[in-house]
Amino acid sequence: MTSKVLVVANRLPVEFQESDGGGTWTRSPGGLVTALDSALSRHACTWIGWSGRACDEEGPALEIPQRLHECELLEVPLTAEEVSSHYEGFCNATLWPLYHDAVAPVVYSRSTFHTYEAVNRRFCDIVASEAPRDATVWVHDYQLQLLPQMLRRLRPDVRIGFFLHIPFPPPELFGRLPWRTQILNGLLGADLIGFQTADALENFLASVNALTPATAADGFISVPGNGNENPRTVTVGAFPISIDIDHIGALATTDEIRNLAGQVRSDLGDPRTLLLGVDRLDYTKGIELRLKAIVELFEEGALNPYETVFLQIASPSRQNVEQYQRIREQVEGAIGRAVGDLSRLGTSPIQYMYQTMPSDDLVAFYMAADVMLVTPLRDGMNLVAKEYVASRIGDDGALVLSEFAGAGRELRDAWLINPYDTDGLKRAILRAVRASKTEKARRMSSLRQAVVRHDVQRWSEEFLSILNAADQQEIIDLRERAGLPL
Ligand code: G6P
Repeated sequence: MTSKVLVVANRLPVEFQESDGGGTWTRSPGGLVTALDSALSRHACTWIGWSGRACDEEGPALEIPQRLHECELLEVPLTAEEVSSHYEGFCNATLWPLYHDAVAPVVYSRSTFHTYEAVNRRFCDIVASEAPRDATVWVHDYQLQLLPQMLRRLRPDVRIGFFLHIPFPPPELFGRLPWRTQILNGLLGADLIGFQTADALENFLASVNALTPATAADGFISVPGNGNENPRTVTVGAFPISIDIDHIGALATTDEIRNLAGQVRSDLGDPRTLLLGVDRLDYTKGIELRLKAIVELFEEGALNPYETVFLQIASPSRQNVEQYQRIREQVEGAIGRAVGDLSRLGTSPIQYMYQTMPSDDLVAFYMAADVMLVTPLRDGMNLVAKEYVASRIGDDGALVLSEFAGAGRELRDAWLINPYDTDGLKRAILRAVRASKTEKARRMSSLRQAVVRHDVQRWSEEFLSILNAADQQEIIDLRERAGLPL
């Protein structure tokens, strides 16, 4: 039977990895699934989403696993045409670049928006028919922003929460979207709308005030009624997402992961300093600028190529979208040039892996790395930064972190950088490499406290308790108790 809590996200938490005519179900990529999978591992829920494969694609018929942990999984089928127009088109060639400060060109296409509407409608119909009376429906991310309003019209009895995992752009950028009012009205159908940071929330409120008749004050938005709908109040807030600290901390103490961490270092020739980058291969992640800074440091002799290795792990992502094909060519071209310039016979200070790494193994790489480089041009939160901190149980290691990642707002004791400022980035990398043991321990212990205070269980509990609060006073009390920014 469908649970009282329904999680709705574009992706199910599992996706099929094909190999040699067969394949396996593995965890889906990205921060949304990483966080939610952990947050919901102990709660009964029904997770509604897409399997990552078009339903009319040729190939072996796939039985989607019925459950993951305590969650029942329900597939929303999408055709190849819909995947191309909704997922690759409107979601990842329009909304993704626009919401990330337009760091890549934004495609505006009426036809892909129409598919986006149709796919949101498909999700809505499935949720509306599955949700028990008075259920709680938690909708996630930019792929489903029209769903809250659609669902409210069909099922006024359910509580609807929406959480945006990526940034919400400033009004000057959001205002370019020809469908800006539809998107805002879609979101305002929710009872609670959550963002990663106070900045994203502010941007959203500025657009609501400028483009709709609704008015915002003190963490609430008053939405006036019209002929068919009553006036309503929507709660908004910033809920910085996090990770499963205990799980990562426990992994970091197992012999298996510790041995693997040792193996990583020895396979890399036991460098004195290992610098690490771990990202989905995405133009928002700033991989090229990071590489440029590192190559310059090697060329200038500030980093010694005989005792330093930079390893970049990039996981394949959205490979049918043109901008992603281009960024892969650019990153791999730059890596190839760097390897050519800096290698010695049989060994190179630049190492690159283009593959999806099992999440447990990643903890070993975090443990092996002396300096973690998380330098996105724009990022909603960035959980790699928090995972690195959670894995450093000995209060060692160093994190170089972009100010333009949501995590940069919380992890103030990282070496914070502006990724566009190559000299500043180089200085921060050198400081992190050369910092004393005491300085590293001081910073890491403070970072660990910041991460431990807000783990992902707490994040989901806070969101759901505010969503299910009886009245505004209870919401105000809950927010105060949790110290959540308005
Ligand atoms: C980010 C987004 C998610 C998305 C994930 C992976 O974390 O916020 O919504 O699922 O990237 O991207 P993909 O396109 O593979 O689902």
